[in-house]
Amino acid sequence: MIEILEEAKTGIIEDLKGAEDENALLQIKSKYVGKKGLITELLKSMRDLTPEEKREMGQAINVVKTDIESRIEDKLTEIKESIKAKSLSQEEIDVTLPGRGLPPGGKHPINRVMDEIVYNFERLGFNVAEGPEVELDYYNFEALNIPKDHPARDMQDTFYISDDIVLRTHTSPVQVRVMQKQSPPVKIIAPGKVYRCDSDVSHTPMFHQIEGLLVDKYVTFGNLKSVLTQFIQLTFGKNTNVRFRPSFFPFTEPSAEVDIECTICKGNGCRVCKQTGWLEIMGCGMVDPEVFKSVNYDPDIYTGFAFGMGVERITMLKYGINDIRLFFENDIRFLKQFV
Ligand code: FA5
Ligand code: MG
Repeated sequence: MIEILEEAKTGIIEDLKGAEDENALLQIKSKYVGKKGLITELLKSMRDLTPEEKREMGQAINVVKTDIESRIEDKLTEIKESIKAKSLSQEEIDVTLPGRGLPPGGKHPINRVMDEIVYNFERLGFNVAEGPEVELDYYNFEALNIPKDHPARDMQDTFYISDDIVLRTHTSPVQVRVMQKQSPPVKIIAPGKVYRCDSDVSHTPMFHQIEGLLVDKYVTFGNLKSVLTQFIQLTFGKNTNVRFRPSFFPFTEPSAEVDIECTICKGNGCRVCKQTGWLEIMGCGMVDPEVFKSVNYDPDIYTGFAFGMGVERITMLKYGINDIRLFFENDIRFLKQFV
């Protein structure tokens, strides 16, 4: 047994010298310490020895076994290193190659449609106004004839920052801010982000609105219908079906909601229009005299109309998009279609 052990000790050194890759190494490993390897067989054959001999022999075998294993381990590291060094010395880098260009970005469909709507209103003589997204309760509700305990507050699920401060639930507060600073005539639109605690295929917690306000002497509901109809035809094409549906807003009287025929199902009914064939795109109406009073406009002299539209809804209708959440997932496959 001692002889075999001695053989193993010198044999391994010779064998490892000839090994050039990991495969060869694996074979050597199984020759010595594998299931049927030399060392394993030696250990097995100790059965017939006396306890005294077993102890001695066992120790000797273990010393050789550990030695063999660590030699194989070292050789493996050596082989790996040399493979790496070889590939590094062979790789070539052509520093004169031109770099890879970045793909061109595109405007987000919401911004695209928002710009187009703003442009269409500018053509109709409106100026652009802006207001803060973090807004005082006063402007978002109170000055718009929605007192603290008014049930209309429930129509808009508000994110409160504190008792007096909210994330604006609509762009209507900009109306009040503009009228506070400017005397009539007023002719503005106010695009921007608004926030509501709301989420499904046609509602998201953040969305975009465009507010409009026109105040002057002798402004009528007929003017309102005419401006909005012109706008819709500019945006959706001459033959778009539109309907004005009586509605209620505390800051307008009379009030209406404007629906256009659902372009996704062509009016037949689908999940986006909740099977009605129509999709609401805005609220509108004649400015309530109470609002004029809060900004010191004389309601006996001035009248006006206001409207507020949902940009996501309009974009869905324009491009036949059936889920509002697609706008906010930032899936390149979706966004690429608008470049
Ligand atoms: C308003 O926000 C009123 N301020 C509009 C208004 C302005 C009326 C001026 C009169 C005068 P409403 O809550 O209906 O109204 O919202 C207006 C539009 O925003 C809706 O027609 C719809 O197109 C869109 N909208 C409402 N909630 C969401 C939402 N969670 N996600 C996406 N779009 C929405
Ligand atoms: Mg509504």
